Amino acid sequence: MPTLPAPSSHSRHWRLDPGVVFLNHGSYGACPVPILEAQQRFRDRMERELVRFFMLDVEGLLDAARASLAEFIGCDAEGLAFLPNVTQAVATVIDNLGLKSGDEIVVNDHEYSACISTFTKAAKRVGAKVVRASVPFPTKSSDEIFHAVMDAVTDRTRIVLLSHITSPTALIFPVDRLVLALRAKGVEVLLDGAHAPGQIPVDVSATNADYYTANLHKWPCCPKGSAFLWVHPDRREGFEPLALSARAHLKRPDRDRFRCLFDYIGTDDYTRFLVVPEALEFMATLEGSWDALRARNNALALKGRRILCDALGCEPATPDDLVGSMATIVVPGVGLESGGTSPGGYEDPLQEKLVEKHHIQVPVWSLPSQGRRLLRISAQAYNTPEQYEYLARALKQELAAEG
Ligand SMILES: Cc1ncc(COP(=O)(O)O)c(C=O)c1O
Repeated sequence: MPTLPAPSSHSRHWRLDPGVVFLNHGSYGACPVPILEAQQRFRDRMERELVRFFMLDVEGLLDAARASLAEFIGCDAEGLAFLPNVTQAVATVIDNLGLKSGDEIVVNDHEYSACISTFTKAAKRVGAKVVRASVPFPTKSSDEIFHAVMDAVTDRTRIVLLSHITSPTALIFPVDRLVLALRAKGVEVLLDGAHAPGQIPVDVSATNADYYTANLHKWPCCPKGSAFLWVHPDRREGFEPLALSARAHLKRPDRDRFRCLFDYIGTDDYTRFLVVPEALEFMATLEGSWDALRARNNALALKGRRILCDALGCEPATPDDLVGSMATIVVPGVGLESGGTSPGGYEDPLQEKLVEKHHIQVPVWSLPSQGRRLLRISAQAYNTPEQYEYLARALKQELAAEG
């Protein structure tokens, strides 16, 4: 077993395996122990008096959680729905669009595969077309991103899907500018903020997107199965979840229909949403405030990227201002087509080597449209610069062995 660099003192709040250098907060987040304990307290309350919990308590508790989230992400709580994940939020938006034959949907080659697949499925069903813009990576500027997306828009475009921060390439997209330009053309915009809240300041209303969805289990460090969808006031009327619950037919003059429909989509473990206020509060205590935590993680991601680029003798793939708490570097070699998994189950055998030989968990994947092989680092409160130095040494060794 190699000697591993220590994580930061904040790591005491997590249950992460000390035998792994964990540099992939971005994929599944990691939930701190105090939040898991708070969730367990809600679960105990639920299991003690289930009928009371589901029929009387959960609505008010969800309202409180939604109010706290709305403040954190800058939107009105009335248009905010809790959903289990971004994948389902995207499917919900598509289902409400009323797509028609001949409509065009614009995505780009940095979007998350589940979202593209869901768009493609919906388009196929009605004879609409999915248009895939290509955003160059390495990326010179946000201008380059802006033009790549806008060039794919025609007068048939119904909706554009845009990540706020992309998954494979960790790029902050210029969403404010894109939404402004797209809405001016009468095009709807779905912002996929899976990685944004907790990495960068998010002001959902200010984006003026038609729909904004994000995961809460990633950077806000809530339990798994917690995400949200915000719907613009102009689009709320008649907007429905994929499935209607046993309460959908009830008349509630005291409550918006949008809220009633999304409050309760069947029996489920709603405790994952109820701890949102605790999670937001807890994460802010680590460095004194959310701003301080985000600044720390941003500086660490940039430092980690610099360490890796120096070791590999390459330049950063993007300007610093397009980086949040994750950074992607281009690694020598050809990126494997997605789905071409290595025998160990990872997308690229290099990731397997890093895990098995060096005990580093970091994703190595690809941007197949551009033949790029990529490695993405994350920087969360528990990470340290020494962990990226260790990764840089391991990476050099494994790339040299590849020849
Ligand atoms: C940009 C982006 N969108 C959507 C998703 C899907 O999120 P989920 O698996 O929670 O549905 C991910 C997952 O990592 C993502 O990175």
